[in-house]
Parts: sequence; structure tokens; C-alpha cells
Amino acid sequence: MSHRILVFYGSYRSNRMGIRLAQFVVDGLRGRGDDVELIDARAVALPMLGRMYKEYPKGEAPAALEKLAGQIRGADGFVFVTGEYNWSIQPGLKNLTDHFLEEWFWRPAAVASYSAGRFAGARAATAWHGTLSEMGMVVISSTSGDFEHDRGRAHFANAVCGWQADRRGRQSAGAGLSPLRR
Ligand SMILES: Cc1cc2nc3c(=O)[nH]c(=O)nc-3n(C[C@H](O)[C@H](O)[C@H](O)COP(=O)(O)O)c2cc1C
Repeated sequence: MSHRILVFYGSYRSNRMGIRLAQFVVDGLRGRGDDVELIDARAVALPMLGRMYKEYPKGEAPAALEKLAGQIRGADGFVFVTGEYNWSIQPGLKNLTDHFLEEWFWRPAAVASYSAGRFAGARAATAWHGTLSEMGMVVISSTSGDFEHDRGRAHFANAVCGWQADRRGRQSAGAGLSPLRR
């Protein structure tokens, strides 16, 4: 069964690295037959939070917010691809997520973290876990799939991705999406 999955990525850096992991996640899920869309926070370019989506009168939210609200409501699950800045999460993606609340409710979410350091962004992943839980998502806690590539390390939420990598950093996408229930 195909699931509608949004993959979020939110680095605004000019020379950002994580876009490759985001694309890898998208490709892996698509390879299993899921209906996947990459939401790149830098491309969506929401302003710093001034008003949440729900604070706009119906039909008056800016077009980008309205579109994203519909995309979030229509998804079966989410993957948050996150790098680590100073032991925590990246502000661009946090800003995007904070624009919404009820739209996130009751869907499963997984975190795929990476960083240049040896912990592969684990501290950012831990921070995201609490944040996404607070926003009403059911966050998959198990992690595995730690792998090294030329610029750093990444690890993935096992239950969602089932990725494997050999010692030379070749990656492959496996099956095994966790149950996605409304
Ligand atoms: C402001 C800043 C803070 C960082 N802090 C950490 C850190 O605490 N731990 C870590 O492992 N890497 C840290 N890094 C390295 C990032 O993990 C690495 O640059 C990664 O590629 C960032 O993701 P991006 O390229 O998609 O923006 C930091 C990088 C930046 C720019």
C-alpha cells in the first residue's frame, strides 16, 4: 500500500550538505512505491513566525501557508531530515514547523539525522523527538542505519527507513515502513 509521505529538510546554508540525505530519503521511499514529496523549508521561505496558520481568518492565510497546511493535512506520515547546529536543531525547519499545530496531529514521524560530527546529529534528533511529540505526532524512537559518507555521518529512524549501508558508504533502501494509521 502506498503512503503519502512528506520529507522535510530545513537548512538555509548556501553550501548545505543535508539536501543529499533528504534526496536519498525521498528516493528510498519512492523506491518502495510511496508517494513522496520533499518540502524544502528554504524554498518555501516562510517568514520568521509572526502569526501561526490557525491565527489567520479562514481563507486569508498567505498562499504558501495555505498550500503547506493542505499538504500536511493530506499526508500519512512525515520524515524530518535534520542536521545539528550547536547540539540542537536547525532554525529554518523549526520555524516552518512552528507555523502549524493541529495540522500535524496524530501522524507518525521519523527523524533522519546527520552531522559532520561523530554522533551523526543524534542530539538534534533527540531535540526533534520532543518537539514533534509536543506537536501531536507519534515519533518513531528506534534508530539505526548509522553510516559514514565522505563529509560526515548519518543515522536513520529504523522503523521508517530500513536503510543499510556497507562499510564503504554505499547505501541501499530497504522495506519496512512502520504502520501508518490515522
Ligand atoms: C552553526 C553550526 C553549528 C554546528 N554545530 C554542530 C554540532 O553541534 N554538532 C555537530 O556534529 N555538527 C555541528 N555542525 C556541523 C554540521 O553538522 C554540518 O555543517 C552539517 O553539514 C550541517 O547541515 P547542512 O549542511 O545541511 O546545513 C554545525 C554547523 C553549523 C553551521
